[in-house]
Amino acid sequence: MHRRLLTAFVVSMFHSLFGENVRYQVNTFHTEKFIETDHEPFGNIAWNKFMTEWEFTEFCKISFMNCVTECLLREPCESLSYSTKEQQCFLHENSNTTNVEDREGYVYSNITSWPKFLLGPCATHNCSIGKKCVLEDGQPRCEISECVDLPALPNASIPYGHRGVNDTRAYERLRCDVGFTTDWDLEMTCRTEGQWKYHNPPCRPVSCGPSNDILHASKIGNGTVYLATVVYTCTSGYSDPEVTSVTRRCQDDGNWSNETLNCQAVSCGSSEDILNASKIENGTVYPATVVYTCTSGYSDPEATSVTRRCQDNGSWSNETLNCQGNIPQ
Ligand SMILES: *[C@@H]1O[C@H](CO)[C@@H](O)[C@H](O)[C@H]1NC(C)=O
Ligand SMILES: *[C@@H]1O[C@H](CO)[C@@H](O)[C@H](O)[C@H]1NC(C)=O
Ligand SMILES: *[C@@H]1O[C@H](CO)[C@@H](O)[C@H](O)[C@H]1NC(C)=O
Ligand SMILES: *[C@@H]1O[C@H](CO)[C@@H](O)[C@H](O)[C@H]1NC(C)=O
Ligand SMILES: *[C@@H]1O[C@H](CO)[C@@H](O)[C@H](O)[C@H]1NC(C)=O
Ligand SMILES: *[C@@H]1O[C@H](CO)[C@@H](O)[C@H](O)[C@H]1NC(C)=O
Ligand SMILES: *[C@@H]1O[C@H](CO)[C@@H](O)[C@H](O)[C@H]1NC(C)=O
Ligand SMILES: *[C@@H]1O[C@H](CO)[C@@H](O)[C@H](O)[C@H]1NC(C)=O
Ligand SMILES: *[C@@H]1O[C@H](CO)[C@@H](O)[C@H](O)[C@H]1NC(C)=O
Ligand SMILES: *[C@@H]1O[C@H](CO)[C@@H](O)[C@H](O)[C@H]1NC(C)=O
Ligand SMILES: *[C@@H]1O[C@H](CO)[C@@H](O)[C@H](O)[C@H]1NC(C)=O
Ligand SMILES: *[C@@H]1O[C@H](CO)[C@@H](O)[C@H](O)[C@H]1NC(C)=O
Repeated sequence: MHRRLLTAFVVSMFHSLFGENVRYQVNTFHTEKFIETDHEPFGNIAWNKFMTEWEFTEFCKISFMNCVTECLLREPCESLSYSTKEQQCFLHENSNTTNVEDREGYVYSNITSWPKFLLGPCATHNCSIGKKCVLEDGQPRCEISECVDLPALPNASIPYGHRGVNDTRAYERLRCDVGFTTDWDLEMTCRTEGQWKYHNPPCRPVSCGPSNDILHASKIGNGTVYLATVVYTCTSGYSDPEVTSVTRRCQDDGNWSNETLNCQAVSCGSSEDILNASKIENGTVYPATVVYTCTSGYSDPEATSVTRRCQDNGSWSNETLNCQGNIPQ
């Protein structure tokens, strides 16, 4: 019964379309072929089917035959789904039935089963992708109907979706590429010139914040966002026995990678003695110092004490004290 209803509906719309020269008759429904004319049978319809992917534009409140026509008028249209209840038409850029699923109240049709002569003077149209054929004073003309390219949004991938002229696509939170993020909703409109319009690029790189310091290491690089790198090297007087430097990278999760340097003070070894001098040292690693003073009974006429420093290259500085025995008075 449902089928008969649709059949009657289709026929009446067919009439008012480009009906002039087309004689047709309708068979009682027996196979999926549902319209016959003096041409070969045409119009292959799958009942209660809907294609879930590849939709590039849709129309509300139009007849099934107008839906077929809208598809025929467009180069990329390969198939259509139609809601018989809502009179809603969905045009698809693909006819791969992998994405066709059962859905009550819908029909699916592969456009190759419909003849171009349904378009009347537009039947031989040669409109490029993004345009459709329209009649102006009976003459076919190509008019922009869709935005051809997906909008070039930096660092985001746009899900497949509508791109009819005047269509607005809204994304609550656009899915940005790995390492990028957004915190506002995006709306973009396919303008009548066939170009997308949107405001700012929605996706910005994830921020890791300033990189941490490593004790006794200097860093080169002050980037703070995804893929930024900072190179750490021990400052002079310090070294890591295993590596000379490490690079940390700002990762897509907003954390810096955690390579680390263990910058240890350079060792000068134990300090040497100076003859007849005592020493007071505060360590053997950079920047330790050792202070020499002549022991009692000895003195250096030029200095009462000298300080040697453990230098950044691991050698003690070479100041010296010349302690001579005091001549008894
Ligand atoms: C669409 O129909 C045409 C002609 O019937 C056929 O060649 C083509 O394979 C069909 N497409 C799919 C995906 O079934
Ligand atoms: C249809 O799509 C499926 C899954 O994407 C793919 O494996 C298959 O090759 C496609 N068939 C045709 C005819 O393109
Ligand atoms: C369609 O247009 C293209 C380029 O504009 C042209 O090369 C081709 O011959 C045309 N085809 C027909 C059937 O008019
Ligand atoms: C992000 O977008 C900019 C601008 O399109 C591009 O130069 C850059 O390579 C993109 N980055 C990544 C990681 O894709
Ligand atoms: C798009 O909107 C403009 C301005 O409102 C209108 O003139 C034009 O006819 C519309 N185009 C389509 C295809 O709806
Ligand atoms: C980051 O480093 C560059 C090059 O070394 C320098 O020109 C720039 O001023 C630095 N920016 C900040 C915020 O320190
Ligand atoms: C990133 O750092 C935060 C805070 O230190 C931590 O809770 C989170 O697990 C880290 N993420 C990954 C992927 O390591
Ligand atoms: C660094 O990260 C790796 C992998 O996430 C983890 O196994 C390791 O324990 C971390 N090292 C430090 C010092 O946090
Ligand atoms: C001073 O040095 C000389 C030479 O090494 C040594 O013989 C002498 O014992 C030293 N004097 C003292 C008080 O250590
Ligand atoms: C030793 O003393 C020097 C000079 O006062 C100081 O710079 C250094 O940090 C000290 N080193 C140690 C290990 O205390
Ligand atoms: C260590 O550095 C000092 C001061 O720059 C220099 O005089 C000395 O020759 C260096 N020693 C070595 C072994 O490189
Ligand atoms: C310390 O070493 C430097 C270079 O090795 C040398 O020129 C200088 O004379 C030395 N000073 C002393 C007091 O030995």
